[in-house]
Amino acid sequence: MLCASPLSVTVIRFGEARRPQQNYDRKTTETLLGAHCNPKPAMETEVAVAATVRALHQIFAAVWVGATVYVTVAVLPALRDGEGSSEMVGRLTSRFTAISIVSVVVLLVTGGHLAGTLYTFESLIETTSGNLVLVMTALWLVLAGVLHVATSKLDGEGAVEKTADDAYAWYVVGSLLGVALLVNGVLFAYF
Ligand code: HEM
Repeated sequence: MLCASPLSVTVIRFGEARRPQQNYDRKTTETLLGAHCNPKPAMETEVAVAATVRALHQIFAAVWVGATVYVTVAVLPALRDGEGSSEMVGRLTSRFTAISIVSVVVLLVTGGHLAGTLYTFESLIETTSGNLVLVMTALWLVLAGVLHVATSKLDGEGAVEKTADDAYAWYVVGSLLGVALLVNGVLFAYF
């Protein structure tokens, strides 16, 4: 225990707390601590991969939800007042679509990796944090669908004021779902 780095200990303790129902925690701890006393590059790589995946998950969650909220509260009100051209709306929606597509994919891949490494099928069903993962996955799917419709409406036929008006309610729902997803993420710290 004395020769473990603070990072290793944090990662190990986090894992142990999250998987009380699994049997290999002590073994994992001993293996990891042993690895640090007698460093094995593979273990350090495992920790680096876990930290990178979690960081990517958080960054893309923040960027996706942040972009959605910004369009809702800052961009759409101006467009609804007629400030902006169809060309500008086209550029805006194509950039937003790119952010959304990349975020959807990165969140699925990193979320899948987190779920696969931190949970078993049983713990997804039987524990509160496992249920939170399932809720997160469902909300991810709904949010992707809502934002797809929202962007299509904004980029639709007609005057900018009208398309922005049509899209507004969808972006409001998208923002609320996005914030709910971030709150869902916070809850993992307590369950
Ligand atoms: C297929 C979709 C997704 C899956 C499978 C998934 C899965 C996960 C898993 C397994 C965790 C770690 C839970 C734990 O620490 O026990 C997590 C954390 C988190 N997720 Fe997701 N997630 C998905 C989509 C999203 C989306 C769309 C957002 C927000 C827009 C999001 C935001 C977060 C946040 C903020 C955390 C907390 C990160 C941390 O504490 O380090 N996730 N997710």
